[in-house]
Amino acid sequence: MSEWIGTANQQYASYAMEELRRLLPGASFTQLAPGEVFRMVCPMGKEEALGLIGANPPIFLRHLQPIDRELVVKGDASDLDGLADLIRNDRSIFGNRRTAVHIRRNSGSIFHYTPADSKSVLDAVLAEIGSEPAVQQPDVIISVYGADNVLYIGFGTPREMLSDWPGGAVRFQREEGQISRAKFKLLEAERAFGIRYEEFGHALDIGAAPGGWTSLLLERGLRVTAVDPADMHASLKGHPALLHLKQNASDIKLAAASFDLLVCDMSWSPMLMSRLVLDLNDALKRDAKAIITIKLMHKKPLQTIREVKERLETGFVVLGAKQLFHNREEITLFLKKK
Ligand SMILES: C[S@@+](CC[C@H](N)C(=O)[O-])C[C@H]1O[C@@H](n2cnc3c(N)ncnc32)[C@H](O)[C@@H]1O
Repeated sequence: MSEWIGTANQQYASYAMEELRRLLPGASFTQLAPGEVFRMVCPMGKEEALGLIGANPPIFLRHLQPIDRELVVKGDASDLDGLADLIRNDRSIFGNRRTAVHIRRNSGSIFHYTPADSKSVLDAVLAEIGSEPAVQQPDVIISVYGADNVLYIGFGTPREMLSDWPGGAVRFQREEGQISRAKFKLLEAERAFGIRYEEFGHALDIGAAPGGWTSLLLERGLRVTAVDPADMHASLKGHPALLHLKQNASDIKLAAASFDLLVCDMSWSPMLMSRLVLDLNDALKRDAKAIITIKLMHKKPLQTIREVKERLETGFVVLGAKQLFHNREEITLFLKKK
């Protein structure tokens, strides 16, 4: 038996639970933050559950932490002492390792210390027991979730928790002059799917305006052919590595085997989008990759995704499917040309 806290994007927890129910038969759930965070009890042990989830990552599960310890809190100063003692007692897990502390709580939690205050106390404890407090690239994460009068505490690697950000909420710094927030989606896809954009040569960006995705690919040194009837942002005009085809995607004629990366972020109906991407397959080189966002327009996202995947699998292998933190009513697919 093992216990977990799962997190999905707001309003998508029921789909994450549905995916987990299929993957881990006998799992049961209680909501901790409606539509977003839930507690799961599953009949398998921790390692077996992690193996099943790792082999078949649920699309809507953004973050997962085990519940290794539970601490009942009172809502006073003794709570932080209790948490610090608990970490001290588990020193064998953290000694000589880079350890990150992630603290979250729901609106009903009586644990009243801010994540920043709690983290600085626990960082001091980690230093005291021979661990190195770390923010980036930790070996192990201490993940704490406060709900009502309990702190649920779990230990795991970023891989096991599906993210190295608290609750999988990936925050990127907004840059000066950034063209669109959409850029964050492509940045997050890079991390989520382990892609290195600089390894590609020539990208086709369909539905590219105003140009957040295009600008990221240009920054990484790619040539980009951007297709959109709308204008690209003024800062991209005249870029030597950019060709803007100011056209509707269904009207363009492209030479065969020209691109090794296709990106598409068009907010279209999923089925039209699949058709369009399949029609562009000839313009892609062998083994080319594609990153596309799929709008979830219907009430049954899991069914929509199944249908889209079946359709796309006639021309592509689906390497990854995930609702990213920066996806709103959509998911992101990572594909390889067959
Ligand atoms: C969500 S925006 C894309 C944002 C972009 N990824 C970025 O980072 O700035 C969707 C774009 O798709 C374009 N679009 C919609 N239908 C299209 C079509 N048939 N052909 C080409 N572009 C289309 C729209 O003009 C719009 O600029």
